[in-house]
Amino acid sequence: MASDPIQALLGSFREEIGRGVSTRGEFERLKGRFLGREKGLVPELFARLKTLPPGERGAFGARANAAKTEIEEAVRRLGAELERREAASRDRAAAVDVTLPGRRPRRGGLHPITVVRRRIEDIFLRMGYSIADGPELENDFHNFEALNFPPEHPARDAQDTLLVDRPAASPLLLRTHTSPVQIREMRKHGAPLRLIVPGRVYRKDEVDATHSPVFHQVEGLVVDHGISMADLKGTIAAFLEALFGKGTKTRFIPTFFPFVEPGVDVSMTCIFCRGDGCPKCKGSGWIEIMGAGMVHPRVLQGVAIDPEEYTGFAFGLGIDRVALLKYGFPDLRLLFEGDERFLAQFAGEA
Ligand code: DAH
Repeated sequence: MASDPIQALLGSFREEIGRGVSTRGEFERLKGRFLGREKGLVPELFARLKTLPPGERGAFGARANAAKTEIEEAVRRLGAELERREAASRDRAAAVDVTLPGRRPRRGGLHPITVVRRRIEDIFLRMGYSIADGPELENDFHNFEALNFPPEHPARDAQDTLLVDRPAASPLLLRTHTSPVQIREMRKHGAPLRLIVPGRVYRKDEVDATHSPVFHQVEGLVVDHGISMADLKGTIAAFLEALFGKGTKTRFIPTFFPFVEPGVDVSMTCIFCRGDGCPKCKGSGWIEIMGAGMVHPRVLQGVAIDPEEYTGFAFGLGIDRVALLKYGFPDLRLLFEGDERFLAQFAGEA
């Protein structure tokens, strides 16, 4: 009965679902086409009711209602089925595949500078030293003045020192060495004292194989009754033997630092040729490793320690330089560029 609109509608609906409705798009299209409020075929059927002669309306209405129920019911079932399938595929996507091989975690490691710094700290801790710390942003007083640098000393020049913009009355700078912490510690605690200060220092240097504007130092300071040059020599000799191995000899050569008197450059047996002479030590058998000296009486006076009662020694060395020597690195930049392929070689060498 092709001429019956209700039969035609049902036939077309059954045919469509017979072809299968598998995607959300297909489902929404089907639903809209038959049940859509505006242009749906089922609502259209009821609109047609009013155009029929009153006598036919009852029977047509009953059949249209039956058709509507069948279509609504089928659409509801299709919708529920579609939802189940969608949920199942979401679960599959979220599931853990326990058959996949595990991912090996990558092991981190300590930076060579950290390894060397800790090694140095351990040696001095065993000798009874404590570890002190100070600010990297310093003022002229602690970095220069209290360390007996005369006002016109070249190190105070902006050529070497990184100045920080501040009102001219109290200019700040990035500390050029760890020595200012000597002053801070002596002012805070007075004598006696026995401490080291590892830390970062800054200078206005261009980067090359042996220079960096940021590097690391360890400062040492001992103040007590009767401290002499012999104590300094014995301490440095024991320290360098512990750090570079038995048989490492130590040599003092007089030099000048404003905050010590006398001041010395400390050299040690060349670690490459063990003293025979090689290109690294320019044939001398010795390499320079640190600066040291007896604390200048003016420095003690400045921090209210009586130089008639107390004497002291101080020393300073570069951690980065020790790392280069110990590991035989050819270039300081290797320590600062953070290249994992290079640094990974030291993982676990603590
Ligand atoms: N502060 C010096 C520098 O930056 C190193 C130094 C030399 C520290 C002699 C000292 C010392 O304590 O006695 O190069």
